[in-house]
Amino acid sequence: MELYRYNSKKEYVNHQLRATHKKRDLVFVREETMVIITQFLQTVFGSRRLSGLCHGVRKGWEVERFSKLLGADIIGTELAPELAKPPHVICWDFHKAKPEWLEAFDFIYCNSLDHSYKPEACVKTWLSCLKPEGFCFVEWTKNHTKLHKCGPRDCFRASFEECRDLLMRCGTLKATLSVPIREDSVLFPIYIYVLQKK
Ligand SMILES: C[S@@+](CC[C@H](N)C(=O)[O-])C[C@H]1O[C@@H](n2cnc3c(N)ncnc32)[C@H](O)[C@@H]1O
Repeated sequence: MELYRYNSKKEYVNHQLRATHKKRDLVFVREETMVIITQFLQTVFGSRRLSGLCHGVRKGWEVERFSKLLGADIIGTELAPELAKPPHVICWDFHKAKPEWLEAFDFIYCNSLDHSYKPEACVKTWLSCLKPEGFCFVEWTKNHTKLHKCGPRDCFRASFEECRDLLMRCGTLKATLSVPIREDSVLFPIYIYVLQKK
């Protein structure tokens, strides 16, 4: 496991914003991921209207897809002010929780943990925003270990096992979902860790 050390919060934000500006029109999250999480949630909660929080969403593709697939109320966070479009995508650092978010959400989804400068504290903060029966879905792909070097842009790098162990220090691991995508995809494999509060 590797964690890049910044000299200041300002340095972190500047690196993230520069990297995001270059990739502003890309979408990493996969439709297959949205579908598998939707099925999981519908199996547990039935057709109840859910509330969700998605972290590090760029222009908010996952916010839109979850809203449609689940008919849910979703908020997305994005560090880059140029991409945030309130009310659905707000400019916010996902290391922090708004007071009104505590114990408020049925689910949380994030595929951007590799952008956290303090991953363990960050996931604990996310879990604090779940209702007692809620689920936090954290995505791990090859991107999080092999493709990107640990550096000022992707500041947290962990193997599948290292990421799992970190998450298990934060909450209870209920399942690991494997996303069925093509083996020649640069993201392959994609796994979703499913966490609940301890
Ligand atoms: C790898 S991209 C993923 C974007 C989107 N989820 C997707 O699948 O296309 C990571 C995103 O997280 C954002 N980000 C990085 N650090 C963040 C932070 N501390 N709080 C909120 N968003 C952050 C970046 O600006 C970038 O848009």
